[in-house]
This record gives sequence, C-alpha cells and structure tokens, in this order.
Amino acid sequence: MKKVFLAFLILPGWFLTTAYLIFEYQQYGPGLVGHLFDTSSVSRVIFHIIIILAPVASTSLGVFADARMKLLRRLREMNDLYRDYYSNAPCGYHSIGPDMVFLDVNDTWLEMFGYRRDEVVGAIRVSEMFPEEDRANVRKVFKRLVDHGRIENEEMVITAKDGSRMPVLISSTAVYDDRGEFLRSRTIVQDDTERKQMDNILREIAAHWSSTFDSMPWGVMLMDSEYRVLRTNSYFERHPELMPKELALNRCRTAIGKRKEGGQAAGTNGGCVEEYHDEALNRHLRMYMSPVGTGGDWVASLVDVTDLRKGEKKLTDSRNAFFNMLKDASMAYNELEEVHRDLIRALANAIDAKSPWTKGHSERVTRFAMAMAEAMDLPQRELEILRTGALLHDIGKIGTYDFLLDKTATLTADEYEVVKRHPSSGAEILKPIGRLSEIVGIVRSHHEHYDGKGYPDGLKGGEIPKMARILCIADSYDSMTADRPYRAALGRDYAIKELKDCAGTHFDPEMVNVFIKLIKEVRV
Ligand SMILES: [Fe+2]
Repeated sequence: MKKVFLAFLILPGWFLTTAYLIFEYQQYGPGLVGHLFDTSSVSRVIFHIIIILAPVASTSLGVFADARMKLLRRLREMNDLYRDYYSNAPCGYHSIGPDMVFLDVNDTWLEMFGYRRDEVVGAIRVSEMFPEEDRANVRKVFKRLVDHGRIENEEMVITAKDGSRMPVLISSTAVYDDRGEFLRSRTIVQDDTERKQMDNILREIAAHWSSTFDSMPWGVMLMDSEYRVLRTNSYFERHPELMPKELALNRCRTAIGKRKEGGQAAGTNGGCVEEYHDEALNRHLRMYMSPVGTGGDWVASLVDVTDLRKGEKKLTDSRNAFFNMLKDASMAYNELEEVHRDLIRALANAIDAKSPWTKGHSERVTRFAMAMAEAMDLPQRELEILRTGALLHDIGKIGTYDFLLDKTATLTADEYEVVKRHPSSGAEILKPIGRLSEIVGIVRSHHEHYDGKGYPDGLKGGEIPKMARILCIADSYDSMTADRPYRAALGRDYAIKELKDCAGTHFDPEMVNVFIKLIKEVRV
C-alpha cells in the first residue's frame, strides 16, 4: 500500500516529462535542445525548465512522504511503548493537580485499588482515598510536595474501592510552570503489604530472640574483635552480685588473648572454655567463648557453676563414704572369715583332744588331703571346702564314748557299730549349719569303700563324693602310720603296700597312685 502511494507521487512527474520530450522530439528532432532553451521566449524556457525538473520534484515529494510516514510510525511505536510502560508498570502511578484532584492514573493503579478510570480521574480528590483519620496528614504531605518538590517513601494507607486498607509506599515529584506554580504531581504508589508483613515477622522474631536471649539462665556477652561489648543479656543486670559485667569482660579478654597468643586467631578456630573460682565472689564461674563469623567477633557465655560444683563435692563425699563403708565391710568379712577358720581349727583340736591317740590326727589328715587335692589341680574353691571337711571329718566322734576310742582290746561287734556311727553323727551335727553344708557329704562318706563295702551308705566308685575319696586315703594312711591303743604304728612302707593292695577295693585307685607318688617324693 505504501509502495502504491509512493508510486502515485513519484511516477506522474517522470511520465509527464518523458511524454513531453518525446512529443517535442518528434517535431524538432535533433534541434530539440535548442528549442527547449530558446531564449527568444523567456516564458517558454521557464516552462521547459519546469517540465524537465518535474521528475525531481515528484521524486522529492515521494522521498519526503516516505520519511514522514516512517517518522509517524516511529512516533506511534514510541507512544505505544510509553503507554505500555505507563499503564502496565509494576507499581501504581497517578498524577494530581493543585486542587488534589486526580489528573491521571495508570492501569496498575486501577487494579490495585479496584476503581474504573472514570470513577477517579477528574472525579475525586486524592485525600478521599485515605482513611478519615489520615487525611490531615495527607494534606501535610501534599503541602510538603508542593513546597519542596519531592516526597519519598511515605508510609501511608489507601482505602480500596471494596473498603479494604492497603499499606503503601508513596514517592512523588512536583511539576511547576514557568512562574513556579505547582501544576501536577508525578507519583509512584507501591504496595507495601508484603514488606509490612515481613517487618512484623522480623519484629516478632527479634522480640522472641531478645526475650530468649534475656531469659537465659546464664550471662551471654557479644564482643567485637577489640573486646568492645556489643550486647549483653539481662542476666548481668539481674545478678550483678554473681557476675559483674566488667569483671566477666576482663576474664574473657584474658582467656581469648591467651588463645590468640597460642597462634589461633579468632574466627578460624573453635571456642575455648575457662573455669575459675572467684575468691572475691566465692563463686565458681565457667566461660564458654566462641568466635562468630570471620570478623573476629566473639560470643561468650558465662555460667555460674557454684551449685554444680557443690553438688559434685557432695557426690564425691558420698561416693568416698560408700567406698569406705565397703572397705569396712570387706575388713569385717575377712575378720569373720578368720574367726571362722580359727573356730574350725579349734573344733578340730577339740575332736582330736578326746583321745591322746588321735592327737594331731585331723591336722595331719588335712595336710595329706590338701597335698593330694593340689596335685590333682582342684580349684581353689574346692580346696577350701576340702580343708574344712578334713579338719572336721571326725566331728561325729564327739558323741562316741571316750573309752571306745581308748580301748586297747579289740572292739566287740556292738562297740564297732557304735564307732561306725561317727560319720553319720558328724553329718547330722553339721547339717543345721548353713555355712558348712558343703562338707556334710564329705564327712558322711569318708569311710565309704570304693567297692561299696564301706559305711554308712555303702556307696561305690563315683557315687562317693570326690573329696570324701581323697579324705578316705589320707585318713587311712594317718591311722596306719600312727600308734593306736590296740597296736603300734605300722610304718610308712606297710601303709604304702596296704594302700596299693586295697586300690580299687577300699580306695580310688587313681587317687592312691597320686598319693603314693607324693609320699615317695616326700612332699607330705
Ligand atoms: Fe573317721
């Protein structure tokens, strides 16, 4: 379309000139140039010049028209761009006149407050957009704009068409005429709701943090790298008698200084802990100091641990008292054990003292039995049981008539039956004594024979308690090698032969071997 229009302007000039020159050439031929510029007629020369310049004029007209069209298009584009920027700006824009009536608002402004343009522009004053109680302030702000030409970030509240109130930030510049009279404003209105909400949240967080900081049950101190106190919590005010702030600061300064001298710069290492007893305050204080960020700042927590230390001391005292009690109990137990052993030994002596013939018998039997048990690697616990059992093995003889023990003649069958009762009598004597319950079986069975022909129960082989079998050998050997009222001592060799002969019948054969080996090695 544009090209047709340009052709319509340019081509007629060229067509006119070309057609005229062709027409003239047909009449004058080669004398055409002379004819065109024949000065005998000035008017004809001028006419010919006009005819010749017609293409230049039409071309110029086309070029001019083209340039104008381009300019207009550019202006339209600029206008559209401007309108777009203005109408769809990310913030509201309005302009008011000297009477505060709206001269213009952009689309964003209308969207923000829910109005149509015709309800605002030329229709209401700007003060009507604000709550009644704020209007006096609005007029003051407007006067400041008129007087000073600028207002910035005024925090105000605008009432939207639906009655809701929106916090806004208003910035404006004034436009004056040549005489300096106020013409209109250029005002930006920004929705401040989110910032206000963030402000409230931050304010709540700050209040919460501050409350927490101040209610901490210990002193907290923030310091910069020069040990200037940036902030302390209220603990120092609440307990000035426990922790004077200056004293605490001095302590921190010293502790951190020592740490820095150790080559550990603030902000590049962990914290440090110092605990000290303040003589003047008579308090135990502990300081935890930690670097904050990389700027050399420190946060120090100062805790009064006096009560904790007192509690620890009480605990230590209680623990020591408990251990002392255990020690006393252990000593008492050892003493009791010693008394127990002495009593057992005294009882054994009392048994042996019933007859001059059995004097020292229990002690010797015990020595033989213990040597055997150790050679057989019996555990310590069993050794202790065997020792007591050996010492008391003949305790049943307490109830045996002395004359039977001292009788030189051979015992009658009835007398022998009486003597044979001493193992079971001994067991009955010991049974009620709980502490000696483990030797009851040993005492009862020390006259049992390996082949089952012994007394009182006729047990055989492994039925006979192991320690009773040991005791039987030790008892028999001592009986054979000691004088008796009815015979002299039979001698060591006789006794060894007798033990060998009776191995497997009277005695446990393996134990006999152990014992004879001990006897021959003179280890008992
Ligand atoms: Fe006996």
